[in-house]
Amino acid sequence: MSDHDVKMTKTTPQQFFFALWGGLFAPIIAIALIVGLVAKIQGSHSTQAALAYNDQAVEERIHPVGEVNVVDANAVHVDKEGEQVFGEVCTACHTPGALGAPKFGDKAAWGPRIKQGYETLIKHAIEGIRQMPARGGNPDLTDTEIARAVAYMANDAGAKFTPPAAAAPAAPAAAAPAAPAADAKKM
Ligand code: HEC
Repeated sequence: MSDHDVKMTKTTPQQFFFALWGGLFAPIIAIALIVGLVAKIQGSHSTQAALAYNDQAVEERIHPVGEVNVVDANAVHVDKEGEQVFGEVCTACHTPGALGAPKFGDKAAWGPRIKQGYETLIKHAIEGIRQMPARGGNPDLTDTEIARAVAYMANDAGAKFTPPAAAAPAAPAAAAPAAPAADAKKM
């Protein structure tokens, strides 16, 4: 046996460790990482939950914009009183004075606005003005309801507006949304 052979067979523990690490573990770990990465990418694309979510999202997106609500043809819209409209819609901003809205009952805040006249206030309430959304944000309110709510608020703060009275006494069916009182704007 030559010196050379002896050297070849003598492997120190360090050498063995590096050989094992470099030759065996490193590739295995690399492969495991790659597999894990691919699984993760695929998982985020195609799990059942993701598919179900997609279906739902697509459904929402292609959902028809308008829905036909079949309303009883005999159901006649009865305009609400100003106080009720106020309580359902306007109070949200006009009670706390949100967004700079003139507070309900605040004569100082309402005074200059009242001076603009009933017509102008109604117009602003219907069309919206600055932070005041059109129809208080509720497009279902009729002009009459808006006019009444305006009168309700303004009168409480010292105005003497006469809110539009009810339209022709509920004549079923025939009572189309006709312009009711003189001071209510065109429908
Ligand atoms: C989202 C909040 C909000 C709601 C809801 C709201 N208002 Fe207002 N309103 C405002 C704000 C803010 C102003 C002050 C706008 C300005 O002059 O800058 C205002 C002002 C007004 C004015 C005075 C307009 C003028 O020319 O000075 C009237 C009248 C009015 N609102 C009526 C109503 C009525 C009626 C309703 C309910 C149907 C209503 N508002 C609901 C926020 C609101």
